[in-house]
Amino acid sequence: MAYSEKVMDHFANPRNVGEIPDADGVGEVGNPKCGDIMRMYIKVNGDVISDVKFKTFGCGAAIATSSMATELIKGKKIEDALKLTNKAVMEALDGLPPVKVHCSVLAEQAIKAAVSDYYKRKGIDPLPIVGEI
Ligand code: FES
Ligand code: FES
Repeated sequence: MAYSEKVMDHFANPRNVGEIPDADGVGEVGNPKCGDIMRMYIKVNGDVISDVKFKTFGCGAAIATSSMATELIKGKKIEDALKLTNKAVMEALDGLPPVKVHCSVLAEQAIKAAVSDYYKRKGIDPLPIVGEI
């Protein structure tokens, strides 16, 4: 069995799929390894991410990691959400097969891109989107 039960659960029943029409920040990132795309929407209340949704043209691992990542940042402070790494998301899912590690980077980068967009709208310097694939 290549995928953990948690990965299969989040793939079959992804949490927080969709769009937020009046989002405070929207981030879109693409995975140069496979061409897949992810868009993340956030609502911000004070310094807390009060709601988050995502859509992806991606594989099952990308869906599962985004689903888990949204669960991990919902209700969290922005500064804590920015500390979420793809490694931490993979650990929360009980791991991914090595060839699928690059898929988990999309979620981490999409969160940072959404926060960056939020900052930009508020006139704060946007974040550099960095990430290792
Ligand atoms: Fe696109 Fe994985 S290569 S779904
Ligand atoms: Fe493209 Fe997984 S293969 S994100």
